[in-house]
Amino acid sequence: MALMDRHAVLERNATLLLAGSLLVVTVGGIVEIAPLFYLENTIEKVEGMRPYSPLELAGRNIYIREGCYVCHSQMIRPFRDEVERYGHYSLAAESMYDHPFQWGSKRSGPDLARVGDRYSNEWHVQHLTEPRSVVPESIMPSYAFFKDTPLDVKGFSTQLVANARVGVPYSDEMIAEAVADLKAQADPNADTSGLLARYPKAKLGDFDGNPQALTEMDALVAYLQVLGTLVDFSTYDETAGYR
Ligand code: HEC
Repeated sequence: MALMDRHAVLERNATLLLAGSLLVVTVGGIVEIAPLFYLENTIEKVEGMRPYSPLELAGRNIYIREGCYVCHSQMIRPFRDEVERYGHYSLAAESMYDHPFQWGSKRSGPDLARVGDRYSNEWHVQHLTEPRSVVPESIMPSYAFFKDTPLDVKGFSTQLVANARVGVPYSDEMIAEAVADLKAQADPNADTSGLLARYPKAKLGDFDGNPQALTEMDALVAYLQVLGTLVDFSTYDETAGYR
């Protein structure tokens, strides 16, 4: 009872109450925020994540240039309907090498965080060339010009350098081999042992259906096909926790 009485003093004096509230919020804030300054990283490490291969990175650049994120998100939220439709909800680690990340805020089209391996390369080429030829009711624009636009690879290693500067662990070797790796990934006849050692699980081959040319279509499809495929979720029950 005595304590309650003293509390009444606080409740009746607005200035004192304000000072008291401030004190409590400050202590609480410090306890919550201060430790974050001593942590290098708050993202939990997840097995399988690696930086994008140069060809995938080139595709990502095109994805950003064309504003695909205006209609597509790349973040599956931890809700049952999303997990059942798209797969395991997105982990922070899955976009830790994305600068800038492509979470997006609008879904005129489906989420693309796990679209990799869901369709064949041919399907993607056909769909990007003329979406309505595979999904009649689609409102997605046609990107047929990707097939006819040679991929600009000159000086591509600078793209890796820029990403390395903001913390993506591209090694000197990855940077030195960038252009060679980029070409090798889309060339069915290339020696890809070095590429695969540097970028495990990289999809190989001619992506755009035209082995003669290295086009923007090759890069974009290589990028789409890697999305969501690096972390192995096969041992997880995706809907556990929703039952
Ligand atoms: C105006 C909005 C819009 C833009 C811009 C857009 N899309 Fe789409 N996209 C859609 C819609 C709507 C669908 C669903 C119908 C369909 O499959 O075409 C879709 C479907 C897709 C799918 C199939 C996904 C699935 O799970 O079935 C892929 C892949 C895709 N888009 C990639 C892209 C890429 C890459 C770009 C940029 C080059 C892009 N989209 C730009 C609206 C858009």
